[in-house]
Amino acid sequence: FEAFEGEGSGVWRYHAALPFDVGVTLPEGNTPLHEVPRIEESAGVENLRVKHEGMNPTGSFKDRGMTVGVRVAQEVGVDRLACASTGNTSAALAAYGARAGLETLVLLPAGKVAAGKIAQAALHQARILEVDGNFDQCLDRVQDLAGRGEAYLLNSLNPFRLEGQKTIGLEIMEEHYADHGEYPDRIVLPVGNAGNTAALYKCFRELVAAGAITEDQVPKLTGAQAEGAAPMVEAIEEGYDETRRWDEVETRATAIRIGNPVNAPKALPGIRETGGTAVAVSDEEITEAQRELAGEGVGVEPASAASIAGLHKLRERGDIDADESVVCLTTGHLLKDPDAAAEAGAEPEPVSNDTDAILAHLEDGSSS
Ligand code: F0G
Repeated sequence: FEAFEGEGSGVWRYHAALPFDVGVTLPEGNTPLHEVPRIEESAGVENLRVKHEGMNPTGSFKDRGMTVGVRVAQEVGVDRLACASTGNTSAALAAYGARAGLETLVLLPAGKVAAGKIAQAALHQARILEVDGNFDQCLDRVQDLAGRGEAYLLNSLNPFRLEGQKTIGLEIMEEHYADHGEYPDRIVLPVGNAGNTAALYKCFRELVAAGAITEDQVPKLTGAQAEGAAPMVEAIEEGYDETRRWDEVETRATAIRIGNPVNAPKALPGIRETGGTAVAVSDEEITEAQRELAGEGVGVEPASAASIAGLHKLRERGDIDADESVVCLTTGHLLKDPDAAAEAGAEPEPVSNDTDAILAHLEDGSSS
């Protein structure tokens, strides 16, 4: 890790592992690794940390990919950036595209993107196309546009995106070691298109190849998906069939409402070869985990809470041991999906504009 001592954002200080020394930066990375003692206790694991990627500039881990991907786009000299998105990728691309002064086009599944994410893409002046279809179909369209030379694709199919996202793994390893004198046994992360899973696996393979860690120090990559969109769990449990597509997907965690994870071929070996697994959780379990995180002061969007919900489920099944040290990734900020947060949270209580009435209301204890 000495190679990484130097300047730059949480991504660019790792430039020794990246294709360039600097990029289009806001700056990104350096996200907190929270202690969550109450969840540690309720899940029954010895050591739990939450890496909150929602603390990136646009509120999700996508910024780590875009800082590199948009830099590459500048280098190549493209006119138009484009992505399909369940929301966060479009918010990040819109912001980094704006920063670079490039035209940005985002294709979103109509009616299935959380309000905060659309607001971001809109204000950063992306052209927003609402497609009558799901995320997977949006990605098909963007690939067509890129294939015809009409746009530079910045979904996680773009390998430079994943180079930036490797730095999540580098930060976790460095910080966990500094705090505990050891690396985490396992990383649990929400999985949609499986780009992050592929990026983390590449990060760990490179650390092993460089002699920075040994094979047995690689954390077990463990994916969590929503039950209504769990093709990766199916692939782990039943074997991977590249012709199989989940055409109908549904979950409250709209960020991971994905039926055809394009990075599956890169991500599945990562889960298998590190000794990890994949687990599906219900929307109710996701909501409960979102509340549990919020109760520790950590505000996340529903998809992010899948990692904590997955941890609970795997502990109950005995697939994760009590003495493991686990890092759960939370991928996006609470404010990304204000509607979901309001639904999961406390009800506002109407009171009259009168102090005595407010005190009477509080003493009444009728709510709360
Ligand atoms: N969590 C959040 C909050 C996301 O926005 C995404 C993906 C994931 C997890 C899954 O990550 O695809 O690397 O497995 N969002 C993409 C988007 C699809 O368009 O914003 P993955």
